[in-house]
Amino acid sequence: MVKICCIGAGYVGGPTMAVIALKCPSIEVAVVDISVTRINAWNSDQLPIYEPGLDDVVKECRGRNLFFSTDVEKHVQEADIVFVSVNTPTKTQGLGAGKAADLTYWESAARMIADVSKSDKIVVEKSTVPVKTAEAIEKILTHNSKGIKYQILSNPEFLAEGTAIQDLFNPDRVLIGGRETPEGQKAVKALKDVYAHWVPEDRILTTNLWSAELSKLAANAFLAQRISSVNAMSALCEATGADVTQVSYSVGKDSRIGPKFLNASVGFGGSCFQKDILNLVYICECNGLPEVAEYWKQVIKINDYQKSRFVNRLVSSMFNTVSNKKIAILGFAFKKDTGDTRETPAIDVCQGLLGDKARLSIYDPQVTQDQIQRDLTMNKFDWDHPAHLQPMSPTTVKQVSVVWDAYEATKDAHGICILTEWDEFRSLDFQRIYDNMQKPAFVFDGRNVVNVEKLREIGFIVYSIGKPIDAWLKDMPAVA
Ligand code: NAD
Ligand code: UDX
Repeated sequence: MVKICCIGAGYVGGPTMAVIALKCPSIEVAVVDISVTRINAWNSDQLPIYEPGLDDVVKECRGRNLFFSTDVEKHVQEADIVFVSVNTPTKTQGLGAGKAADLTYWESAARMIADVSKSDKIVVEKSTVPVKTAEAIEKILTHNSKGIKYQILSNPEFLAEGTAIQDLFNPDRVLIGGRETPEGQKAVKALKDVYAHWVPEDRILTTNLWSAELSKLAANAFLAQRISSVNAMSALCEATGADVTQVSYSVGKDSRIGPKFLNASVGFGGSCFQKDILNLVYICECNGLPEVAEYWKQVIKINDYQKSRFVNRLVSSMFNTVSNKKIAILGFAFKKDTGDTRETPAIDVCQGLLGDKARLSIYDPQVTQDQIQRDLTMNKFDWDHPAHLQPMSPTTVKQVSVVWDAYEATKDAHGICILTEWDEFRSLDFQRIYDNMQKPAFVFDGRNVVNVEKLREIGFIVYSIGKPIDAWLKDMPAVA
């Protein structure tokens, strides 16, 4: 029986390994992590991450050929294939701070593999890493090898949160990069055989190591670039009276462009896009390509601009002050169908409003009060560095409340911000909400989920990203 061990039981390691175990009953899969809390949760009925369909997959395989454990060394030692799926956040200190990938977790996993291994292993990069990381890992492993042979593969993960199980069941492609030597190609084949249990062969792409590593960064950069492009258009739409949903529909009808990933929003979030683009920018700079670095930086700049534009629009519409006004925040996760808040645009919007002394009442169906409080007190990039967490200041505690119902959040509010596109926000009883709000009642829709005309008929003043501007808002001072 082939034995797989995955180091890192996070958003990627957990679901990916659960699907491998489901589709390959003849393979034993152990997912290991240094976090006892996380492993305990994987072994309980309350999994540590919310992902549609995940519970069923885990229930079917856990205890059969899928195991979650904190005994990292034992499982690494026994495995034939070791996936490394640890976090690779942005560095917060030292050389490349604010841009480069922090490979501390990666390196410690690699050193541990070298320390405990007693048999040959295929080591698979599952985490998103800078190009050439495989070479560094190879050096760590071979310099400490005690005669053991290692083959390093790059097998980046393309799943998106909220649709992880669907994406893993039916991937557009699986990418495997390896050394172009007979041993390297043998390792590529071994991993290909795992995926071939359920992925059609023509969707399993094999490349050299560096192409696989770079393809992951490139794919995320291209995706994020589309969002920044449509968000840049949304600002122009508001200035000219065009409607961004009509523009993106028309643009996306061109088969060369395609319709996906053209939804204007308050900005993209999530643990990957910003981190991976910053990493790409850093690699370009290190390779003497400042123009290329500058090009990709713009994707992040437009994203930051979109978030601050949203806050500015809100404050200027409400007579240039939100001081002591109650603002309901509907949605805090970075997208629907996940409880993940890493780099969610809601953090920047809420911090902007708190800076203007607003009182926030926040509702998200999947995000806990603790998480929201942690997010609102954290410095940029600190979400992956738990040691840096600080308690919420007493003033912020007074300004923020977290509630479990959209109607409660909006009661007596002056304005509503929709920051995540949860389906339930589309079918809220907005007449009831309007009746219970302060007047004039404002809605700022950062996800284009509400029916603008219907809300205006009820009496709301509505701002929806990239849509023709309400007469009221036109009279307010211009936003930067
Ligand atoms: P995560 O933070 O959810 O999980 C990483 C886990 O690794 C944590 O539970 C941590 O405790 C554990 N860990 C760290 N060092 C360890 C060690 N030495 N030994 C054992 N466990 C260790 O991160 P994630 O979202 O799963 O992302 C993992 C990687 O996959 C990152 O490189 C990320 O960029 C990439 N990725 C993420 C997504 C996504 O949607 N989240 C998608 C594609 C790729
Ligand atoms: C992304 C990539 O899609 C995935 O392939 C990679 O493996 C990890 O990073 P993820 O961050 O989970 O996945 O979600 P994604 O669906 O890409 O959304 C990222 C952000 O972009 C979210 O905040 C989302 O709301 C936003 N978005 C997405 C838009 O604003 N408009 C769109 O049209 C699409």
